[in-house]
Formats: sequence, C-alpha cells, structure tokens
Amino acid sequence: MTDNGDATPLVRVENVNKHFGALHVLRDINLTVSRGEVVVVIGPSGGGKSTLCRAINRLETIDSGTITFDGRPLPAEGKALARLRSDVGMVFQSFNLFAHKTILENVTLGPTRVRGIARDQADKRGMELLERVGIASQAGKHPAQLSGGQQQRVAIARALAMDPKMILFDEPTSALDPEMVQEVLDVMIGLAREGMTMMVVTHEMGFARRAANRVVFMAEGQIVEENTPDEFFTAPRTERAKDFLSKILTH
Ligand SMILES: Nc1ncnc2c1ncn2[C@@H]1O[C@H](COP(=O)(O)OP(=O)(O)OP(=O)(O)O)[C@@H](O)[C@H]1O
Ligand SMILES: [Mg+2]
Repeated sequence: MTDNGDATPLVRVENVNKHFGALHVLRDINLTVSRGEVVVVIGPSGGGKSTLCRAINRLETIDSGTITFDGRPLPAEGKALARLRSDVGMVFQSFNLFAHKTILENVTLGPTRVRGIARDQADKRGMELLERVGIASQAGKHPAQLSGGQQQRVAIARALAMDPKMILFDEPTSALDPEMVQEVLDVMIGLAREGMTMMVVTHEMGFARRAANRVVFMAEGQIVEENTPDEFFTAPRTERAKDFLSKILTH
C-alpha cells in the first residue's frame, strides 16, 4: 500500500441520505476510504451500491450529510467539479467507450481535452497504459472489434490516463462472458497491489479475498456490516449477510 504521509481519508462519507422520490436509497451512510485502500462493496440488488458510487463523484446529488474528497467537500459545479471527475475514475458494467473512436483515442481523449496534455505526449502515455492492460496491439482498432474483456481493460486504461487519485468500479465484470472475467480482475488486482485507492462493487469473492482491505455489505440503503474479507466471508455477523452469502455462493 502506498502512503504519501497524508493521514486524512481520501473519501469521507458522513450521515448521507438520498431519496429517489419516496424511495429512501441511502440511509445515514457513514464510510471512509483511506489512501491506498481497496474497499469492496457487496449486497443485494437495489441496495444502493451504485447510488453510493455515483454520489462520490457527484453523478448523483445527496439530500443530507456530507461527502469530502481529499479533505474538501464535493464541489457542486464548474472547474472544481471537472477536477473531481478526473480525480475519481469510474469504470462501469457497460464499458461506455466511444464507438466511432479508436482504442487509443478513447484513452487519450480525456487527457487532451480535459487535462490539456499535448497529443504526442498523450499518445505515448496512452500506449504505455494499453501495454499495461495487455492490449497495446489493438490500439488502432475500434471498440466493436474487441471482446468485452478487452473493452473493459480499455475502460480501465482510460480511467488511468487521467491520473486519478481513486477509481470507482461498479460491477466491472458483470456484463462479461465468464472466460473474460479473470483478465479484467487481474488488471484490477495489479492496480490494488500498486496502491491505487479503489472502491469496487462486485460479487467476485475471489477478487475480494485477494485484493480487498475491507468488505462493506450494503442492503436496503444501509451499511449493514463492514469487515475484513476473511472475517466477512467466513464469519458474517448478521443474518442478512449470511442469507446473501448463501445465495451468491450457491447460485
Ligand atoms: N435515477 C433513479 N431514479 C429513481 N430510482 C432510482 C434511480 N437510480 C436508482 N434508483 C433506485 O434506487 C435504489 C438503489 O439503486 P442502486 O442502483 O443504487 O442499487 P444497487 O445496489 O446498485 O443495485 P444493483 O445490484 O441491482 O446494481 C433501487 O431501488 C433503484 O431502483
Ligand atoms: Mg448497481
């Protein structure tokens, strides 16, 4: 784990509530993510996992409570919000690549447009990142020519190209054919080992066991249980977690 000497948590979520109409989707959420930490969020469908991720980079607003990133409350708009979005990378279930752009262009678009990096420099770094995720040979192709696993690795390279302080992963392997899951998880395990701060919504328990510092179990808008992966998977404390684990272990 990296330690840049700054002890303030990178993310601090305090007493956060969020409604969608009458639906109370985040109920008094308290959570911190330290620098270099890997937090895996698991729980039943509709429990608020995606909403929590989206609230952290302000793709969703919150009704009450506070979220700070790197010691500052989340900005509402303008340059500060653009900065937050580049500091917090996001990798979704659907890869969301630009279909009409090449793989390399998908990776360099953010750095050139948002960070103001020169084209040749962005290309050089883009190629290094594609190398790192194992798809440099595909740089000139378009997303539709790649497998799902390859596209998701491009999405990770694209997030890394912005030099984020953290990456949020929302079920990054759920849309993939089973044989492609591991190649994406391997890239994520590598990032975790290098000290990237990560929050990962996933039901991949192998990943959680190998890479997570902490597992957060969310259900019905609440954090029900928080523990080390080993404790959580071998000795869940709550009935809800036991019930959930028995379902995903046997499905
Ligand atoms: N934009 C929205 N408008 C209205 N309701 C929403 C919206 N987004 C999410 N919800 C509802 O909020 C609740 C929490 O959704 P969320 O997507 O955060 O859950 P989740 O834990 O990520 O579920 P899943 O495992 O299925 O991805 C659900 O009941 C969902 O239907
Ligand atoms: Mg979700």
